[in-house]
Amino acid sequence: MTEIGSDVQRAARILKSGGIVAVPTETVYGLAANAFDEKAVTKIFKAKNRPAFDPLIVHVADDASLASVAAEIPEAAHKLRRHFGPGPLTLVLPKTAQVPDLVTSGLPHVAVRTPNHPAAAELLGVLPFPLAAPSANPFGYVSPVTAAHVAAQLGGSIDYILDGGRCTVGIESTIVAFTDRPKILRLGGLSQEAIEAVIGPVEVAAESSANPAAPGMLTAHYATKKPLVIGHIPTLLKAHAERSPAVLGFTSNYGTAGEILSKSGDPDEAARNLFAAMRRLDESNAGIILAEFLPESGLGRAVNDRLRRAGADRKL
Ligand code: TXA
Ligand code: MG
Repeated sequence: MTEIGSDVQRAARILKSGGIVAVPTETVYGLAANAFDEKAVTKIFKAKNRPAFDPLIVHVADDASLASVAAEIPEAAHKLRRHFGPGPLTLVLPKTAQVPDLVTSGLPHVAVRTPNHPAAAELLGVLPFPLAAPSANPFGYVSPVTAAHVAAQLGGSIDYILDGGRCTVGIESTIVAFTDRPKILRLGGLSQEAIEAVIGPVEVAAESSANPAAPGMLTAHYATKKPLVIGHIPTLLKAHAERSPAVLGFTSNYGTAGEILSKSGDPDEAARNLFAAMRRLDESNAGIILAEFLPESGLGRAVNDRLRRAGADRKL
């Protein structure tokens, strides 16, 4: 089994010698390798069973490191970084030649962010290279928000798990592309409202499962193994009574077995609890998971996006 520990120097040594390490961030745990080392990056795709067409996010310590991967940074992108970086914000920018094509799946752009987590910041600070890191889960499954989640699915196939406690945001970063006009490719831990308050109205990419700009946009991503249905829970409870249903509720569990994402109705708290709750229900003896949408504002939108994809048809 892969060792779990909080030794940043050890994580750094492994990464310098071409290994792969699970690293905590404020959003979800990432599976990291030296972004400039193709051989190391290949190991990420293997461990996750990730298709080569799905590019990785590159994590940088600071603006100097950003300049080594991004060839050009539009003013609006700078503005967003000034307001929200380090944080749950990923920018898609023209890449430098130093970034291997493998990292960007051959795209001329690179997705890049600076995580806001003390262990991730310390690690990036001691490394002489940025870290390519997708979420540390098998492709298509729910992202991990604890070291134990990583160990449960990737333990044995990676070199070390750096334990940084439970992720405080709980869902992946918001991805904003600057390939054309600014466009949100994936809703995440930074709300659309917060972004628009800084750079004005931005388009949100429509869901797409064909040739997606961000495969995080694929339907049937973030999936549980058990079927998940979304709707009016009391009605669903009646309809699925024979399938041992479990509820994934926003402020209530409707008096049945299940999870409550936020008793007080706080979408940020719901986001923080979402993936751990989905995992618990997936591992319970329920036959089906019944979920409901949050109000479509703030992080509620990103939570609904994850639910929608988890509930989608499982054909990828
Ligand atoms: O919060 C996060 O973003 C976490 C932590 C570890 O940083 N990472 C994460 O990575 O969620 P991943 O690989 O699970 O999702 C990255 C998404 C994918 O949907 C990928 O398609 C998109 O980012 N992406 C990466 N590079 C891209 C690029 N050059 N152009 C468009 N989309 C890109
Ligand atoms: Mg992922």
